[in-house]
Amino acid sequence: MKSFDIKTKIYFGENSLERLSDIPYKKALIITDPFVVKSGMLQMITMPLQQGYTEYDIFSDVVPDPPLEKIQNGVKAMLESDPDCVIAVGGGSAIDSAKAIREFTARSTNKPTAMIAIPTTSGTGSEVTSFAVVTDPDKDIKYPLVSDSMLPTEAILDAALVKSVPAAVTADTGMDVLTHAIEAYVSINNNEFSAALAEKAIEICGTFLLRSYLDNNDTHARQKMHVASCLAGLAFNSASLGLNHGMAHALGAKFHIPHGRANAMLLPHIIDYNSGISIHSKSQKEYPPCVRKYVNVAKLLGCSNFNEITTIRALIGWMQFMCKEMNIPLTISQCDIDKTEYFNAIDSMAEKAISDSCTKTNPRVPSKMEVAYIFEHLYD
Ligand SMILES: NC(=O)c1ccc[n+]([C@@H]2O[C@H](COP(=O)([O-])OP(=O)(O)OC[C@H]3O[C@@H](n4cnc5c(N)ncnc54)[C@H](O)[C@@H]3O)[C@@H](O)[C@H]2O)c1
Ligand SMILES: [Fe+2]
Repeated sequence: MKSFDIKTKIYFGENSLERLSDIPYKKALIITDPFVVKSGMLQMITMPLQQGYTEYDIFSDVVPDPPLEKIQNGVKAMLESDPDCVIAVGGGSAIDSAKAIREFTARSTNKPTAMIAIPTTSGTGSEVTSFAVVTDPDKDIKYPLVSDSMLPTEAILDAALVKSVPAAVTADTGMDVLTHAIEAYVSINNNEFSAALAEKAIEICGTFLLRSYLDNNDTHARQKMHVASCLAGLAFNSASLGLNHGMAHALGAKFHIPHGRANAMLLPHIIDYNSGISIHSKSQKEYPPCVRKYVNVAKLLGCSNFNEITTIRALIGWMQFMCKEMNIPLTISQCDIDKTEYFNAIDSMAEKAISDSCTKTNPRVPSKMEVAYIFEHLYD
């Protein structure tokens, strides 16, 4: 038996932040990062709260790839503030921090608290997922925490907040959206509902990601990517992800490559590995089932070709083209990473990628040796 539900109520489109003047909560704890405070963006949140007479405290000590220590500080702040609602404002790091802080606080107080997630990047889809990724810097591990109790009560998608996202972050987070949608689409847990959501997200990325990278003022493209991010989040919340994320978590935790960038660099390699189609492939009668799915992805992106082999090659080429156009490195040798340190880390990264919970739903079951081989080939 399968089931599908969307628990988070989604407000979207122009002026959707006005919802904050009408929320049924008395006191909010805003959890955000220092950029949101410094940039003045926070006023776009606090003004409607004041109009609706909702009191608020602010916890702004969020850092990228949130470490456990910062989560503990947040729990202290939440216990002191005692809100009936948490409002997360920021990228995936702020939303995931807020989810973990709310979850750990509830475990000690037994008091349910509502949560409103307001993304300021178009990337993780965290506003509608039951995942929160936290980092243990001592062990170089990123842990995806998974629990339905972490699902936000409401999400607000207002593209006015993503106008200021710099091009490099637009590129990384946009490729994260595409990776979520593609991994959910080929996941062994995929279903008709997740597939419909993933297809729409892929189609939007094909048309609007590059536009949104090239021009901050292309509001239409930015609005579309903001919705695509949420659609892809809903897709993988139902179908889960795959090896691409398992490996990106291991790589990101060790070498601090931004999450979406690590995914983008790995994506061509993972499509090649999962489909079993390489530059040496010859036509055959039967392909693994994920090949048909990748062929559909290629159709949605407008790069389908003569047959399965040429289509998969074209799809891999399309991913590499997007990385080049958006200045995302294709290899580790193009990043500022020491070669010996990288190769020494491969064995441990491969082990972590294999035991990452995302890897479980990959369409092809990888061995540690195969994962190590992909990491090696990622170097140059
Ligand atoms: N929970 C999930 O389902 C899920 C899914 C994928 C990734 N993640 C996690 O989310 C994190 C990555 O999130 P992210 O990619 O959104 O990046 P992020 O939240 O780390 O933000 C990246 C940078 O962009 C800045 N920024 C955010 N909004 C901005 C804006 N409007 N204008 C200018 N700068 C802005 C931030 O201050 C930060 O410096 C990682 O920890 C990743 O593992 C979670
Ligand atoms: Fe991701």
